[in-house]
Amino acid sequence: MKQQLSPWLDKVLFHETTILSRLDDLARNITLDYQDRRLTVVAVLRGSLFFAADLLRRIQLPLTLETISVASYHGGTSSSGTIRFNEIDLPPVRDRDVLLVDDILDSGRTLHAIRTRILDECGPASIRSCALLSKDCERAVDFEVDYEGFEIGNEFVIGYGLDFKGQYRNLPFIGTLTQAAIEGSTGFTGAIPETA
Ligand code: IMP
Ligand code: MG
Repeated sequence: MKQQLSPWLDKVLFHETTILSRLDDLARNITLDYQDRRLTVVAVLRGSLFFAADLLRRIQLPLTLETISVASYHGGTSSSGTIRFNEIDLPPVRDRDVLLVDDILDSGRTLHAIRTRILDECGPASIRSCALLSKDCERAVDFEVDYEGFEIGNEFVIGYGLDFKGQYRNLPFIGTLTQAAIEGSTGFTGAIPETA
């Protein structure tokens, strides 16, 4: 049996240095692709907060930043199937080249719903999307991102912005939870295991 890192942390998938070095590549590609364009990044809250902050600081172009807040997971480890928009106003992106930035592409419903609303209601010049992670699973809707950090298996991950029931977002790495943590018999202490 493999040794667990802590009562709540099962394994680390990507350490911070690995994530940041991948962001260097993504930012380089985005910088090249958006030369002479009018880039507006729309970061999907709250999951993309850390990713967007680190990515945007690597993009060597003038850009504007908007946020949009939606919820699709309601406290568990599988998508709820409905996307709730928390804002009344959509971002002002008329004639802008929009890049949607989200933490993870899973069923595809979140980015699909946001892209559809922005296209239908906001008049952008163009729209593309970027996700740090892409889950290797069947999409509920036909959607793929234009920029992807890492592909992962069909498992629930936490850290670097991604949460389980509101916790674990502040981990500097991306990892998976133990069954005990998912079942709620052990919780996040805030202390990062030294071996992680
Ligand atoms: P989708 O709408 O199913 O593509 O899911 C996208 C949203 O679900 C993401 O923005 C996340 O907030 C959440 N999500 C999907 N998979 C995970 C995961 O493994 N861990 C934490 N949140 C996830
Ligand atoms: Mg999210």
